[in-house]
Formats: sequence, structure tokens, C-alpha cells
Amino acid sequence: MTGNRLADRMSAVEQSPIRQMFDLAKRAEAAGRDDLVHLEIGEPDFDTPSHITQAAFDAATAGATHYTSNAGLPELRKAIAQTTDSTHGFTVDPTTEVLVTTGGMEALALAMLVTVNPGDEVLLPTPSWPNHRTQAILAGATPIEVALDPDDGFTLDPERVIDSMTDRTAAVMLATPSNPTGRVFDPDAVRTVADAAAERDAYVIADEVYSRLLYGEYQTGIAGYVDSPDHVLTVESCSKTFAMTGWRVGWLLGPEDVVSAATILRESTTACTSTISQHAAIAALTGPMDEVEAMQLAFEERRDSVVDRIADIDGVSCPPPEGAFYVFIDVGDFGESSLSMAKQILEDYGVVTAPGSGFGGAGEGQLRLSFANNLSRIEEGLDRIEAFAADNR
Ligand SMILES: Cc1ncc(COP(=O)(O)O)c(C=O)c1O
Repeated sequence: MTGNRLADRMSAVEQSPIRQMFDLAKRAEAAGRDDLVHLEIGEPDFDTPSHITQAAFDAATAGATHYTSNAGLPELRKAIAQTTDSTHGFTVDPTTEVLVTTGGMEALALAMLVTVNPGDEVLLPTPSWPNHRTQAILAGATPIEVALDPDDGFTLDPERVIDSMTDRTAAVMLATPSNPTGRVFDPDAVRTVADAAAERDAYVIADEVYSRLLYGEYQTGIAGYVDSPDHVLTVESCSKTFAMTGWRVGWLLGPEDVVSAATILRESTTACTSTISQHAAIAALTGPMDEVEAMQLAFEERRDSVVDRIADIDGVSCPPPEGAFYVFIDVGDFGESSLSMAKQILEDYGVVTAPGSGFGGAGEGQLRLSFANNLSRIEEGLDRIEAFAADNR
């Protein structure tokens, strides 16, 4: 049955062009197409390291199957505080400044819900991950895209962000490394934006879920180097670092007032993160890192190979990703819209990609390719994209 009444906010939430591509690919495969190369994937292709899965199994069989406190297991919050200190370069109090969430996604949604009023504006430097926009809408805010410059490799331009600030700006979303571009924002640029935000009592929401997948120099988290860390809400997660997307463990770090408000609010949403998954996360954060390091090396090898291969394709270019596992390629010379090109590449060349327009207006003319697939499939996909470029020049 269709035609039922929905809340007004749903009129602003559309199905993203990325999701349309996923659905098209699924339909093609259900109809028998078996040659598709998947370069649209947003999660590590590795399995969760076995000691993590074992810890979850042990916890479940020992009876850790009940609710935990809204904030999460104290032992996990302590492990998060320790890892924040060692990998993000700032300290948090595990009892008052850490909230365990159901993935980074819940942390992002809660951060907005507790700091943004209906009618406020949330600045989104784009291209950016589409869920940020939906999360702003969920909080009743107006998402404001701040288009970054493709000719500058989508680096963070603080002037553009500051020019978009108004007295209704309540938050600025900064995801670094970025999904979809893989850019790591320059700390000076971030500092300038963070200072301007704090002056207006607006928060920087620092989405750092890819912060342990870096191909350049080690970077501390944003809250570790800005002058007003009390205006930074940090979101992190086990998903990408530990190949744990399905376990749904993330966290929100921030000042006590914000974390406490988010903790109260989530009693009415998810109440707590799966207890079994929280035990798995403790094992991830405190256990051996050799499998994680092997994954990081594999991503680095793929990243180098993808960047070299794209440089060889006439008319296609990309800013070299400095983190995460995506390349955002410029294919603007070959077609009208990124969605129509993505559809053509799927139908005629058998490669599934994410159209750039799904990441905001600044992404038009681009495609996001993920290198969360094995090297031979990635090479096959890039050969086919080269054929698309040659045929459409
Ligand atoms: C930029 C960004 N932030 C946050 C997330 C949330 O990840 P999770 O909820 O699995 O921690 C994702 C997932 O794709 C992402 O790409």
C-alpha cells in the first residue's frame, strides 16, 4: 500500500544517487549479470580480526547479553580514552566525556540533536558524506553546502567556510580524512575554521572515523590542536580501522554537558550499544594490532597502485587520497551528469561506482571509487573505466 502520510521532514530526505546505483547493481545481479566490478563499497573488504570475534563469543557465552548503562561499559570507555590519548593526541575523562554509540552514525546524529536547534544552520564543506546532510535535517536544521574547489583538490578553504557563517550557524562538519575525496584537512585551515566557529558559539563536529587510515604523516585529532577544544565534538568508530562495520560500535567525545545530554537522549533511541559488540570493541582497542597494520599496508599498496593507474588514463584525474579508501575522480569531460555516467559505466562496462552528485553539488562531474576490493578486481575496474574514457572522448 502506498500514499500514506509521512512527516514533513521526509520531503527533504531523498534517496541518494549512490543508493540508486547500489539498487541498480543489485537488480542487474539478480537478473543474472555476474561480471560486475564493485568499486562503490564503503567498508573494508577484510574480516574482523579473529581475536575480536572470539572476545565477543566469549562474552556472549559468559552471559554478557543484558543492557549496559547508556554511556557504555566503563572498561570500554577507559579503552577509548586511552586510545584517544595515544592516537588522537588529546585526553578525555572516560567517566564524563566519552559516550559509546551504535557506530559513528549514532554519534553524529546525537551530536547534532543535542547542539543544533530547529532553524539553525549546519555548514557542510562539500563534497561530503551524504549522511551528514540527513543528520542535520533530522535535527531540524538547514544543511548549508560550502563547495570546496575541485581545482584545488577539494582542500579545506577556511575563507569559504567562514564566509558562509551566519548568526544561525550552530555547527560545522569537518570529516578528515574525507569521504569521498580522501583529503586530510590542513591543521592551520581547520584551526582558522574552529576559531571562527567557537567565536560564534558554534561547534565543530569532527568526523574522524577514517583517522587511522592515513597515507601521509600522523595527524592528531582536531580537538588535540585547536584553541577551543570545548567546541569540538569528536566522532570515531571501530568500523573502518578494525573492519568492524557490522558490529556497530562508535563513540562521541566532547565536553561533559554535551556528552551528558547525548547520554540522556539515547535512552530513547538505542539505549545502549550491543553489549556483545562492546566486548568486541574492548578486544579491538586493547588487543594485538598486527592484523590492523596488515590491512593498513594493503590499503596503502592499493592506494598507490590506483593513483598510478588513474594518472595513465587520458582525461581522468583525482586528488591523491591522503587517507580513507576512496579516490574521487574527475570524469567531467565524458558526460552530462555523474549519475548518468555512473549508470553508463555500470550498464556498458560493468563497474559499479558512486556518482559524485551524491556528495553534494561540488561533486558533480566526479565519481567515487573505493579501493576496498582486492587489487586484481580494482585493476579490472580501472581497465574498464579506461575503456569508457577512450570510447567517450
Ligand atoms: C565519513 C563517515 N563518517 C561516519 C561513518 C559512519 O560509520 P560507522 O557508523 O560504521 O561508524 C561513515 C561510514 O561510511 C563515513 O564514511
